[in-house]
Amino acid sequence: MKSLNASEIRQQFIQFFESKGHKHLPSSPLIPYNDPTVLLTTAGMLQFKPIMFGTEKPVYSRATTHQKCFRTTDLENVGFSPRHHTFFEMLGNFSFGDYYKAEVIPWAWEFLTDVLGLPKEKLHVTVYESDDEAYDIWHQKVGIPAERMYRLGDDTNFWAAGDTGPCGPCSEIYFDLGPTMDKNGVTLHPGHDDDNRYLEVWNLVFMEFDRQPDGSLKSLPAKNIDTGMGLERIASVLQGKSSNYDTDLIQSIIAKVKPMVPEEGLQHERYTVALQVIADHSRAAVMLIGDGVQPGNEGRGYVLRRIIRRAVRFGQMIGITDNFLYALIPTILELYTIYPELAQKQSIIHETILTEEERFRKTLHRGTKRLDDVLADLKAQGVKVVPGPAAFELYDTYGFPLELTLEIAQEQGFDVDHAAYKVAMQEQVERARSAARSNLDLGAGVVGFEPTAFLGYTATQSDAEVLAVLETNVPHLRRVVLKATPFYAESGGQVSDHGALFAGAHRYEVVDVQKVGEVVVHVVQGEDWQALEQASQVNAIVEATLREETMKHHSVTHLLHQALKDVLGEQVAQAGSAVNHAQTRFDFNLNRPMTAEEILRVEELVNTQIMKNLPVKTEVMSIDEARESGAVAMFGEKYGEKVRVVSMGAYSAEFCGGTHVPATGTIGSFKIIAEEALAAGVRRVIGVAGRQAYIYSSQNEQLLRTLSQELKIPFEQIPERVSKLQQTLKAQEKAIKALKSEMALQQVASLATQFQAQGELHYLAAQIDVPDMDALKQVAENLKGYKPQAVVVLGAEMDGKVGLVAAVSKGVSTHLKAGEIIKQLSPLVGAKGGGKPEFAQAGGGDKPEGLPQLSSALVALLPSGTPA
Ligand code: SER
Repeated sequence: MKSLNASEIRQQFIQFFESKGHKHLPSSPLIPYNDPTVLLTTAGMLQFKPIMFGTEKPVYSRATTHQKCFRTTDLENVGFSPRHHTFFEMLGNFSFGDYYKAEVIPWAWEFLTDVLGLPKEKLHVTVYESDDEAYDIWHQKVGIPAERMYRLGDDTNFWAAGDTGPCGPCSEIYFDLGPTMDKNGVTLHPGHDDDNRYLEVWNLVFMEFDRQPDGSLKSLPAKNIDTGMGLERIASVLQGKSSNYDTDLIQSIIAKVKPMVPEEGLQHERYTVALQVIADHSRAAVMLIGDGVQPGNEGRGYVLRRIIRRAVRFGQMIGITDNFLYALIPTILELYTIYPELAQKQSIIHETILTEEERFRKTLHRGTKRLDDVLADLKAQGVKVVPGPAAFELYDTYGFPLELTLEIAQEQGFDVDHAAYKVAMQEQVERARSAARSNLDLGAGVVGFEPTAFLGYTATQSDAEVLAVLETNVPHLRRVVLKATPFYAESGGQVSDHGALFAGAHRYEVVDVQKVGEVVVHVVQGEDWQALEQASQVNAIVEATLREETMKHHSVTHLLHQALKDVLGEQVAQAGSAVNHAQTRFDFNLNRPMTAEEILRVEELVNTQIMKNLPVKTEVMSIDEARESGAVAMFGEKYGEKVRVVSMGAYSAEFCGGTHVPATGTIGSFKIIAEEALAAGVRRVIGVAGRQAYIYSSQNEQLLRTLSQELKIPFEQIPERVSKLQQTLKAQEKAIKALKSEMALQQVASLATQFQAQGELHYLAAQIDVPDMDALKQVAENLKGYKPQAVVVLGAEMDGKVGLVAAVSKGVSTHLKAGEIIKQLSPLVGAKGGGKPEFAQAGGGDKPEGLPQLSSALVALLPSGTPA
């Protein structure tokens, strides 16, 4: 057996299959391309689904890849088990209607035994129970003895990427780790649920079916091969390690974490698990961010958030209290130079991880506090079990997984109601599921169609042959597949076209256009479906004005991209864009806001290119030609062997499938209307072009015109005048306040005549007009001085809020305190406050209608038996 490191294994695998006529294709990004059925790329075959469905023609009938994969099932187990990962790489070879079982099985054997040198007697093989063909090839052609072969059922030997779609029987190859790995000394067999001894290293799938939504199997247009061998696993075998985590790929990350753990952390019972969690999750986070995922509260963003948090938490558990995940990034990038997109994104990766980590540390702090409160309450009630909903709230709101809640609870002698927690969790899963169900399942039943021809580069209207009218789960929407279409399907950041399909005189509004693989699906709205269902041909008409404005925004986005590079530096990389008829939104990496001057320069550069009226050319060329021509590669797009390059004079060249203006002059003009932070290290620029830019400028000018007329001065004097006006206003506000206070004090004498007597006690409650609390207080104190034993309560409405004060003479305050009066009276006016025995106040009241009741309410508080 050869001892190879991971990158040697990768290389040997690819070389081996290249020698068998396979084309080495790049790994597709972790964000699946045009596949709404999965969140993240989970297997090597995903990028080839359209080929297997027959909707896309393969450029090569044999391909081989090392594919970045991500699986979220069993995430809580990652770190504990020696074999589980979130991110991992899968080595695979694929045949699209080319070779089949008779070739792939002997090749797999040759690679494992000749190239990698695995001992033959340690290899065991499973096949699908009824697959005699595979069985015979293994047994007779390859020569595996019957005692090392097993026929197994659907659970282990039928592989599918999802509930529907390509699937087929499979044959798995297992490596025997030896009798010491037998569980409890009992020898089981490969594929057995409880078995530990036989390690699955390679899965050969014979993809020949397409599972329908009703569960039935339909034959795919051709028989395909999809194989997958986990890189980390085969590395563990070749490196003689009992855990994937001990292989060179992951050990380098673990080695980097170890020195960060303080002395006491080394003793923690979860020390090794924590290192493994951190290594797996930090690597996975780097990969996700590298492919454009940002932390969020749903979908992929949530997966990213969850793994970063889990890693931080395990770090904390073994005593790492400072931010540390970001410090692992350079080690991870060194391990994965084969994915050059990572190095390009280093600063975004750094910022994202650091910010998320910092944020979570705060959350962790808040969550711990919340849990402490919960436990204190329970203790007071004599309860020893944390109720399920409380544990779920900690999970849902504070990001505390059950395990963490349990751990902290147990330290303080509490248990957690697991069953009730599960119920609360289940309820939430159900809520999420029913939300997802209401989404349209765009891809359902879109199989077996030729790629739709796109006519929209040159036309906005065309007669088109109807290939299918398919239902959706919404009665007033149907999906239409045409042979060719002028409608642009949403992609590359450009929105889909609007317009209508006409079947005779019947109009069906096109509300959305999406690609499923290479097939364009038009979502149309209507009520009477008969005309459409009977039509063999429709007239497809795109709303041309919207399209034109969209094209201007798309073309200007290319100019903007280049201008940003010119002004901010070549390292500016696009992180996303969205173009429609009203605006363009462009996201890119930058760790700081752009300065006003930079924004102006970018805007000016773009407008200069517009005024040069550069010709816009589109050319279809091979990837290599395109690279030489210096075209900018876009992130996250998947390209066939031919790419479309859109160039604007010599200023800009980009890979792009979008629709563009014929020359930059058509764009008219460009304005940046916003520059803002999108995420850590990512900025967003919003701009308008064409008609929208004209409208934007003209509205601004109108605004200035109105101002200039109001102020009766020319435009250019407006800023100076406004600043003077503001100064004057401030001075006047101050003067008014002073005047109001003075006037309030002048009311004192007349107010003093309103005192009522109860024995020696004189009391007064009134509503007065004052500018602020200070004035209110002053008036009350003044009034108090009029009588030796006075109780004064004053209320006022100031800036829309009610304030209240109470002033009480010293002699009275021994038995009737100002603070008590305010406490009793403030609810009348919705105010809050308090104070001392002789003076108290309340503010923020929102019930001015309570003011007239102050007097009677005060009387009720007076000590009725005050001696006369
Ligand atoms: N698709 C199969 C798997 O993921 C083989 O590549 O196991």
